[in-house]
Amino acid sequence: MRRLAAGNWKMNGSTASLGEIRSLLADHPDPGCEMLICPPATLLAPMAALAAGTALSLGGQDCHQNTSGAHTGDVSAAMLKDAGAGYVILGHSERRADHGETDQLVAQKALAAREAGLVAVICLGETGGERDAGRTLDVVGAQLAGSVPDGASAANTVIAYEPVWAIGTGRIPTLEQIAEVHDFIARALNARFGSAAGAIRILYGGSVKPSNAGEIFAVPHVHGALVGGASLKAADFGAIVSALAAF
Ligand code: 13P
Repeated sequence: MRRLAAGNWKMNGSTASLGEIRSLLADHPDPGCEMLICPPATLLAPMAALAAGTALSLGGQDCHQNTSGAHTGDVSAAMLKDAGAGYVILGHSERRADHGETDQLVAQKALAAREAGLVAVICLGETGGERDAGRTLDVVGAQLAGSVPDGASAANTVIAYEPVWAIGTGRIPTLEQIAEVHDFIARALNARFGSAAGAIRILYGGSVKPSNAGEIFAVPHVHGALVGGASLKAADFGAIVSALAAF
């Protein structure tokens, strides 16, 4: 299994930010793990020009469930692919919260991504209230059951466990809590998809930084990270890439 360091730039970045990609590529020509950046859709094409022939993969941050049509402001999976993406993040908690995305919609989008030849990075995670109520595994299990469509395999799916309360807060779960949820996800994937699930990568996301990446990557069933804020700077993201490559 090739481990995956993924950066989610969210609604950040302009053409001036392409310099960070140039630095990242200059410092990590042969990173020893897979590197993925998911910029705003406006930057996919210029970033793809920089990434051509390098170890850097690119992804979108969302796609529409339909292939084309009258959906003002939306982007289809095929359009992302055409602009240079190989991946698309789906069901991020910010989209679930800001746009009311349901598990069912996320599953439809994942099928659209698969149809277009993109790997779906499907996000799951409990809120702070749900964790405090002891409902973490119930919530993550229900999201996984509803958001991951049938036929998932390592070739078309990555799972990202992102506790909502850890995103952008500087707080992370204990390593035992991360281990518990990743083990639970691995078992659930195995129960549903059998041997096809074995190589599906499970990323941890939420306040991953150079200073905590190493200890998180040592947790069983953590196959990489989905990084927000710390992915915006080449030096920080590069340090996380190096930490992952050490495993
Ligand atoms: P932060 O790394 O900024 O906490 O964001 C995590 C995230 O939401 C990645 O998708």
